[in-house]
Amino acid sequence: MKKIGILTSGGDCSGMNATIRAAVRTALRLNIEVVGFRKGYAGLMKGDCIPLDTKAVSGIMHRGGTFLQSARSAEFRTPEGQQKALDILRELGIEGLVILGGDGSLAGALTLHRLGFPVIGIPASIDNDIPFTDMALGVDTALNNIIYAVDCIKDTASSHARAFVIEVMGRNSGYLASIAAIASGAEYALVPEREFDLAEVCQQLRARYEEGRDNAIIILAEGVAKGEDIANSIKDAIGFETRVTVLGHYQRGGAPTVFDRLLASRLGKFSVEMLVAGTHGIMAGLSCNNIIATPLDIVIKGAKRPQDEMLRLAEVLGI
Ligand code: F6P
Repeated sequence: MKKIGILTSGGDCSGMNATIRAAVRTALRLNIEVVGFRKGYAGLMKGDCIPLDTKAVSGIMHRGGTFLQSARSAEFRTPEGQQKALDILRELGIEGLVILGGDGSLAGALTLHRLGFPVIGIPASIDNDIPFTDMALGVDTALNNIIYAVDCIKDTASSHARAFVIEVMGRNSGYLASIAAIASGAEYALVPEREFDLAEVCQQLRARYEEGRDNAIIILAEGVAKGEDIANSIKDAIGFETRVTVLGHYQRGGAPTVFDRLLASRLGKFSVEMLVAGTHGIMAGLSCNNIIATPLDIVIKGAKRPQDEMLRLAEVLGI
C-alpha cells in the first residue's frame, strides 16, 4: 500500500484531529503517503484534498473540531455520487480510506466497502449511539463540557431557588443525559430509554420544595422533548421558578480530554495498521479497553447495547 486517504464526516467532535495525527504518523512510518479530504464525502466527490505530512498534523492534537472540516452529504447517498468518489480515489491512486464519523458516515463507509474499496471506519459522535464500541470519539469531552456547565448552573440555581431544565444533545440516545445526571448529581434525567410521568416529576419537585430543597437540575435528552416545553409544563406545578438552558453545540467543541486523545491515537494507529494488513470493511472500536475490529455490516445492522446498568445506577441514586 503506497497511498491512503482520510476524511471526517457528519457532526464534528473533539478527538478527530488527534485521530488524523495518529493515522498520518503511523502511515508515514510505514512509508505510506496520506491525503486528507476536506468536508467529508462532499470533498471526496470533488477530489478536494491536501497532502498530510508530519508538519500538516503538528499542533492539532489539543484542538477540538476537525481541521479537515466536516459535512453531511446527500449526494454521496446516490449511486452517481458514490461512483464519483470511486473515480476520484482511482485517479488519485488512493488504495485505502479511513473514515471518521457517526452512524450515517459509517453507513457511507460500508457502501464504499461493498463497492470493493478498502475502508476502515472510526466511530466519532458525541451521541455514543454506535454499536460495537464502548465509547465513540468525542463522548468523554462532551460529557466533561456538560458537567462543567451543569456545575456552573447549580451555583446560580441554588442562589435563586430555581429549577433548571438543561437540554443536552444526543439525537435519540439518552447516553449524554443519563451519564451527565449521574456525574453532576442532578435531580432528574429525562431520557428516551426510560418512561417517565411528568406529573409525577412535578409532584416530587413540589414535595422537595416543601421540605426546603428549593432548587433542582433536570437533565433532558433532546430526543425526549424541547427544554422549553418541559419547563412550561412544570412551571405552574412547582413552588419555585424554572429556567431553561439548551447547551447546544457548545457540547461538541473544546480541547479533547486525555481519554479522547488516547482513544483517538489508538484508533488512528489501529486503522492504518488494519488497512496495511489487508483487513478492511471494518470499524475500529473500544471494547473492555481493547481496540477491536467489527465488520461494518454488523455495526450498521446492530443496535447499541442498552444502558441498563447506567439507568439502574441512576435509579438507585434517586435520579
Ligand atoms: O450527531 C451529533 C449531533 O451533535 C447530535 O447530538 C445533534 O442532534 C446533531 O448532531 C446536531 O446536528 P447539526 O450540527 O447539524 O445541527
